Amino acid sequence: MISELSKSSFKQTIFQAFTQCRAKTLTLFESMDEVTFRRQAHPDFSPVGWHLGHIAYTESLWLLERSAGLPCMFPQYRKLFAADGLPKCDRVKLPNLEEIYYYLDTIREKVFDYLEVADLETEEPLWRFLLQHESQHSEIICFVLELIKSQMSSVKCEKLITVDSGLWKLDFAKPEAMIQIPAGEFQMGNNSLDAMDNERPAHWVYLDTYEIDRYPVTCGQYRVFMAAGGYENPQWWSKAGWEWLQTAKVTQPLYWREDLAWENHPVCGVSYYEAAAYAEFVGKRLPTEAEWEKAASWDAKTNQQRTYAWGETQPTSEYCNHDCKMGKTTPVNAYPAGKSPYGLYDTLGNVWEWTATWFDGYEGFQYYPYIGYSQVYFDNQHRVLKGGSWATRPWALRSSFRNWYHPGVQQVLAGFRCAKSDNILA
Ligand code: AVJ
Ligand code: FE
Repeated sequence: MISELSKSSFKQTIFQAFTQCRAKTLTLFESMDEVTFRRQAHPDFSPVGWHLGHIAYTESLWLLERSAGLPCMFPQYRKLFAADGLPKCDRVKLPNLEEIYYYLDTIREKVFDYLEVADLETEEPLWRFLLQHESQHSEIICFVLELIKSQMSSVKCEKLITVDSGLWKLDFAKPEAMIQIPAGEFQMGNNSLDAMDNERPAHWVYLDTYEIDRYPVTCGQYRVFMAAGGYENPQWWSKAGWEWLQTAKVTQPLYWREDLAWENHPVCGVSYYEAAAYAEFVGKRLPTEAEWEKAASWDAKTNQQRTYAWGETQPTSEYCNHDCKMGKTTPVNAYPAGKSPYGLYDTLGNVWEWTATWFDGYEGFQYYPYIGYSQVYFDNQHRVLKGGSWATRPWALRSSFRNWYHPGVQQVLAGFRCAKSDNILA
């Protein structure tokens, strides 16, 4: 009886989460014109309308076809919306918004019919995967819209000062402050039913003592690097980084703003190479993923890992800037309630943070639900980013979550913080 009850209340939880997740995804499309809907803002990214169709497609494939055993309801979309269907440049020939809404609604109705009879004992990880799949595409839609905004000459310059009152300045004398993390073992990764394949299995890692920045690097700090000719001096750049810089002809972060109102916001729109060059310039380096995760989630008092920096409570606006609630970055010290046990600010939300680690599977990795989610990116061409951004949906926000990009990508949602080894002999 009790287990029947908890099963049905768990189905209720899934139902609510799916519904909430979808509601905000659709908000992003409110009053959107057809041009924006199908515009390919950049060769690396599909139009936002494609992402919307792909969300429905993925739900249909995994829940209706593979799990419920139903026939494909929209075979005409199979090629268009599959991740491995068409090259990105051919994804602009889309049905219109109404047709895609119809697609989403029709699939969703069937999905909820199926939820009533689905055996969650075996399928729970799949449902959780799909919730995070939509979450991630919802985040991608958000940044593609940012990209489009920045490309329009008519970007409306919102009033920037608003939330950034003088208050935060008071306790923000030392943006360069570092925290020492004592040597020892900690647990990284995640075995919970929420974990994506690349977070598994959880495992113990020993790290020597190191230091890590209390805050993500701010625009104000980064400006010093730029002013010192950081982009003209190969001394700070790795060989690959300098080559990238010459080819990409980059002279500043993408979306760089001169406005001083952003000084205490994290710098964003930087590639891995820029982040690493800045770190070199200030005599530091980028943290490894393990260093980042330990500093962000390990509670040395209880010898336990936390799901979130602040504990186990689900993300809210009290703890961090996420879920598109602000629609932009916030000053790096704006969320003291979201500090990690070691005292790091802003590990979750605000900006994704580049790490020095190549994306790879942990020992014992098994792909789920398909090889193309993570494993095809274990190619020594992608670096891990941690922590989520102002656009990360709550279901994909946690310390063990792993994102990955090619090191040359200047992602509007990506910044970094620095680390350094404690040199005992020095
Ligand atoms: C984890 C953000 C790199 O964009 O390819 C969405 C997320 N994977 N559908 C991506 C993803 C499959 C993924 N990233
Ligand atoms: Fe996808």
